[in-house]
Amino acid sequence: MAPKTKYDIIAEIAKRRGFFWPSFEIYGGMSGFTTYGDLGTKLKRNIEALWKEYFVRKQGFLELEAPVINPERVFEASGHLENFKEYSAECSQCGNSFRADHLIEDKTGLENVEAMGGDAIKSMMVELKIKCPRCGGALKEPTLILTMFKTEIGATGGEVGYLRPETAQAMFLNYKRGIIHAREKLPFALVQSSKVARNEISPRRGMLRLREFTIMELELFFDPESPDCPWFGDVKDAVIRLYNEDMVENSVEEPLVLSVEEAVEKKLIITEWQAYFMGLSQRFIETLGVPAENQRFRAHLPDERAHYSAQPYDHEVKLETWGWTEISGCAYRTNFDLSNHMEASGQNMEVRREDGTRFVPHVVEPSYGLDRLMYIVMENSYERRGKRNIMHIPKELSPYQVAVFPIVKKDGIAEKAVEIRNLLLSKGLWVSYDAGGSIGRRYARVDEIGTPLAVAIDYDTMESDTLTIRDRDSWEQVKLSIDKLPDALAAYFRGENPFLELGEKVVRE
Ligand code: GLY
Repeated sequence: MAPKTKYDIIAEIAKRRGFFWPSFEIYGGMSGFTTYGDLGTKLKRNIEALWKEYFVRKQGFLELEAPVINPERVFEASGHLENFKEYSAECSQCGNSFRADHLIEDKTGLENVEAMGGDAIKSMMVELKIKCPRCGGALKEPTLILTMFKTEIGATGGEVGYLRPETAQAMFLNYKRGIIHAREKLPFALVQSSKVARNEISPRRGMLRLREFTIMELELFFDPESPDCPWFGDVKDAVIRLYNEDMVENSVEEPLVLSVEEAVEKKLIITEWQAYFMGLSQRFIETLGVPAENQRFRAHLPDERAHYSAQPYDHEVKLETWGWTEISGCAYRTNFDLSNHMEASGQNMEVRREDGTRFVPHVVEPSYGLDRLMYIVMENSYERRGKRNIMHIPKELSPYQVAVFPIVKKDGIAEKAVEIRNLLLSKGLWVSYDAGGSIGRRYARVDEIGTPLAVAIDYDTMESDTLTIRDRDSWEQVKLSIDKLPDALAAYFRGENPFLELGEKVVRE
């Protein structure tokens, strides 16, 4: 049996404990779909909330929620119907289809074969004599296939519709309302965190390539003649690792290591807004537990670029199983989308400057796959310590903040523990309660699901109103009195009190 990869380990814990698992299990499953359990749903929600802290609340950007199903004319105008395609190779024997660039990557170990373009992909399939991975049959020449889900709007047919492959189009369709709600002032942004669907040809890598997933997108509208970002100073000194287009083209191994400000000065990043979002993105991903040295920004080559983008940078993080992996794209979309919708809809999207000149706003877009981020948090927080699995999920993100355990169920201890649980719930904390099995097994469980603190209720609690708190990361324990507990925990989760200052350290013999 092949050795377990880190992904296998995380996916096993995820399934057993209830973070996520393959969908439609009872009917044999279907690749490209994931179902989230209690822990995964909460972890995703917390990551999304943190994203809004970084990218929405502080800047006063505007949120939006728009339909998943869109009429065909939206994607005609956006260019997706013509461009949202991948090279697919169909097996002449079993009829299964596969993404041609991925087959080449699997056979050669090359990365990013998509960027080599269609002609190279077709000839490499022949030169490498690539066969069907399912049955060994001959594969037909790859052809471009639209990877959007098609549907009909209206139960008796009628209009063709598509499930959106990105939320961004809604921001462009609703731009005219957005600018009114932004008091007619640029720059402003519309943001959306919601489901999208991509009809992947042959999804692989589990959570990393899904057919239905949540995307967190932001479209920042600005005047290209006033391109300054008012918050640029907050990130200008952030040091990033960057590969520009030339470096990618020439397979340069070592990145440029430079500040965001230098990257703009050297025109490696065209707009200050894009540089701002890249610096912010690095900080956001550090908060998810990924150190800056395991992050990099890589420019797209022309064949790899989305049709709308003048300068896209992928934000990548290093994963143990798959190496450098895209978690976000930061694209300069220019006025491509608004101009297209202006032409197709006949609606004027222009803005008038004070000097009377008119222009269609330009757009910078940072866009994240939330499902990937969830996996990345789990992989980065995982530790195997002895026989234990520990998820050091950052405390701001943990599905549950505190676990409450009665040491035993008798002598009123369970009832006291329920009281403590209710007290913590009343303070707004996410609390789990577990009275079953040995205390060691209960600690092991909370370590594995990433609950930062566990409160144990014992005979001391009954006698002197004191209880013990255990730290998931260090396994240290402190004692404190019940009346101090709510304030101590609130300070801890605000990041004001390190664990050992929550009470008196328990010295183990
Ligand atoms: N809007 C970004 C993407 O489609 O990936």
